[in-house]
Amino acid sequence: MSHLARAVVAAGLTAAANASSLADVCTISNIQAALPANGTLLGINLIPSAVTASAVYNASTGMAGMGGASSGITYSYCNVTITYTHTGKNDEVVVKYAFPQPSDFKKRFYVAGGGKSDDFTLSASSADNCQVVSPFRAPQHAFDYSYDEVALAGDGSINWDATYMFSYQALGEMTKVGKYITEGFYGMNNTKIYTYYEGCSDGGREGMSQVQRFGDEYDGAITGAPAFRFAQQQVNHVYPATVEHTMDYYPPPCALAKIVNATIAACDPLDGRTDGVISRTDLCKLHFNLTSLIGESYYCAAETSSSLGFGFSKRQAEGSQTSTTPAQNGTITAQDVAVAQAVYDGLHSSKGERAYLSWQIGSELSDADPTYNTNTSSWELNIPSTGGEYVTKFVQLLNIDNLSDLDGVTYDTLVDWMTVGMVRYLDSLQTTYPDLTTFKETGGKLIHYHGESDPSVPAASSVHYWQSVRSVMYGHLSHEDAQKELQDWYQFYLIPGAAHCGTNSLQPGPYPENNMNIMIDWVENGNKPSRLNATVSSGDYEGETQMLCQWPSRPLWHGNSTFDCVHDKASIDSWTYTFPAFKTVVY
Ligand SMILES: *[C@@H]1O[C@H](CO)[C@@H](O)[C@H](O)[C@H]1NC(C)=O
Ligand SMILES: *[C@@H]1O[C@H](CO)[C@@H](O)[C@H](O)[C@H]1NC(C)=O
Ligand SMILES: *[C@@H]1O[C@H](CO)[C@@H](O)[C@H](O)[C@H]1NC(C)=O
Ligand SMILES: *[C@@H]1O[C@H](CO)[C@@H](O)[C@H](O)[C@H]1NC(C)=O
Ligand SMILES: *[C@@H]1O[C@H](CO)[C@@H](O)[C@H](O)[C@H]1NC(C)=O
Ligand SMILES: *[C@@H]1O[C@H](CO)[C@@H](O)[C@H](O)[C@H]1NC(C)=O
Ligand SMILES: *[C@@H]1O[C@H](CO)[C@@H](O)[C@H](O)[C@H]1NC(C)=O
Ligand SMILES: *[C@@H]1O[C@H](CO)[C@@H](O)[C@H](O)[C@H]1NC(C)=O
Ligand SMILES: *[C@@H]1O[C@H](CO)[C@@H](O)[C@H](O)[C@H]1NC(C)=O
Ligand SMILES: *[C@@H]1O[C@H](CO)[C@@H](O)[C@H](O)[C@H]1NC(C)=O
Ligand SMILES: *[C@@H]1O[C@H](CO)[C@@H](O)[C@H](O)[C@H]1NC(C)=O
Repeated sequence: MSHLARAVVAAGLTAAANASSLADVCTISNIQAALPANGTLLGINLIPSAVTASAVYNASTGMAGMGGASSGITYSYCNVTITYTHTGKNDEVVVKYAFPQPSDFKKRFYVAGGGKSDDFTLSASSADNCQVVSPFRAPQHAFDYSYDEVALAGDGSINWDATYMFSYQALGEMTKVGKYITEGFYGMNNTKIYTYYEGCSDGGREGMSQVQRFGDEYDGAITGAPAFRFAQQQVNHVYPATVEHTMDYYPPPCALAKIVNATIAACDPLDGRTDGVISRTDLCKLHFNLTSLIGESYYCAAETSSSLGFGFSKRQAEGSQTSTTPAQNGTITAQDVAVAQAVYDGLHSSKGERAYLSWQIGSELSDADPTYNTNTSSWELNIPSTGGEYVTKFVQLLNIDNLSDLDGVTYDTLVDWMTVGMVRYLDSLQTTYPDLTTFKETGGKLIHYHGESDPSVPAASSVHYWQSVRSVMYGHLSHEDAQKELQDWYQFYLIPGAAHCGTNSLQPGPYPENNMNIMIDWVENGNKPSRLNATVSSGDYEGETQMLCQWPSRPLWHGNSTFDCVHDKASIDSWTYTFPAFKTVVY
């Protein structure tokens, strides 16, 4: 599993007016006429001769990972490719758009971040709405690339163009160009086009980059589990392996899996309902002690599995690690618990200063899984490439795909790596700029969500950003007043039990399925949500709707069918971090 989903960008349109047919408008000359003249969008020179346009009829919806099930809706659109160059550079950027047939156009421009392919596939969550998918290409690279493959021009030499494009620039440009063309394409004559963004994981980070950098371009943004605070986030993937290397103990993965399962079982009732879901990981953190699991037995059958690599885009699909594990049968030891506890505690320097937060207790510990060496019949170091490749390429600036070992690597080394990445990529990949005034002042609305048991991007990472925005923008107000202000335009929701950008096979909890409709209603009709509609898709409560609590309120069940959203200071405090291992503020 990689949170660093894709270097590919998707945009979409939503529609419904106009008389002309798709065939009438979907012509190269119509697109060429709609292009902004050079000098209109400063720095972006469109290349009219490179425009392609072709009508696609009766395509069907459904895009995995976008939060919507395939609904069998068909739609017809104009498949458009636009090429531009940055003024004074000989680069080439290709963006793609899908313009819905005029009868479907609803004056909405939809950007689906973190998109993955060249195909235009419509998310059913955007149902009768959107479409456009636009895989962007970094300068001077062929269509088939992934950002991590081009991040370095050579050892020690950062490809800053590709880095800034991936960080935020390409999406912002795609939106600006796309909105401009949309007006001409449909002959809109300055009619308001509502612009929406939706994405999770790196798509969530991309969304935050847009809200931070192009705040006046978007009316609504939905960002899930953003893989931002890149410097800390990526090195954190190496942290569990470093714990094991430091302790010189590699727990059988089955022991870790049992610790997770038993923690879920123990903490599930703390939120007031026994439903297989830890809806309050904070109560689990405050009231459950992992040492109580020592001695519990576990068993896992032998299996062969593959997991994903760094996966900025195309490489994610391939499954870059295959491993075979033998049958495991044993009891949880004090050392197993010590590893799990250290992982959940998060990285601290040798002086005991906190450097980063961690996954919530009860989240899967997949980054901690060692590999099995069949020659020695023992468990050994396994460095997830999500972290390993980040360290080699982005910190050490070596064009290799993984760290080979952790020899000489201490917790302080991880802190140093985080520091290097934070300084180097502060204005690009870090993506945590906390002043969203432009977005807010131009009427932007933000729904930010995060699976509470996300094992890849820690849920507390999102909480920390929300708190940063609050303190930077409303530092002069009391927390209560600041929250009221924020709720008018920036709402944050934790999704009980959910994993990374999706449901969790270990906890049958709710997941939001119609965020786009909620956002449209907020932006266009002024219906501000106060809770987030989510649906339970498995388990005893399958089909149940849960109106999720808006942060910082937290759910507390009474009986099996209702919960309140309560304010609980101890809970909020357990989600609140400072990072004294760094000398500067970490937003
Ligand atoms: C805009 O600039 C690009 C690149 O310099 C050039 O290829 C293109 O022809 C120009 N467009 C027009 C309409 O002159
Ligand atoms: C698309 O589907 C509609 C309705 O089923 C049908 O009438 C039309 O012929 C189809 N168009 C194409 C190009 O297949
Ligand atoms: C969209 O257009 C591009 C460029 O011509 C083409 O490569 C691609 O196959 C088209 N996609 C569809 C679904 O027609
Ligand atoms: C566009 O709007 C302007 C100002 O309202 C109006 O004068 C003009 O006729 C309109 N053009 C079209 C094509 O509707
Ligand atoms: C943990 O729970 C899951 C789902 O309930 C189950 O498939 C898995 O075998 C369990 N693992 C262990 C080690 O008990
Ligand atoms: C958990 O229990 C162990 C053993 O009783 C104890 O040493 C440890 O301090 C406890 N941890 C917490 C966080 O209370
Ligand atoms: C696991 O080991 C115990 C003790 O050696 C044994 O009784 C049990 O049958 C084993 N279970 C499995 C599923 O192999
Ligand atoms: C196991 O031994 C074989 C033969 O010596 C060797 O090629 C292989 O690399 C070893 N595997 C590991 C994981 O050490
Ligand atoms: C990265 O390298 C480490 C150490 O050699 C190894 O354990 C791990 O499996 C590698 N990961 C990948 C994805 O190749
Ligand atoms: C929640 O969303 C579902 C669709 O996912 C919808 O059917 C239901 O009416 C919504 N409920 C509320 C209370 O908004
Ligand atoms: C809630 O459901 C559990 C089963 O999960 C049941 O044992 C319990 O009696 C129920 N409580 C109420 C108040 O209905």
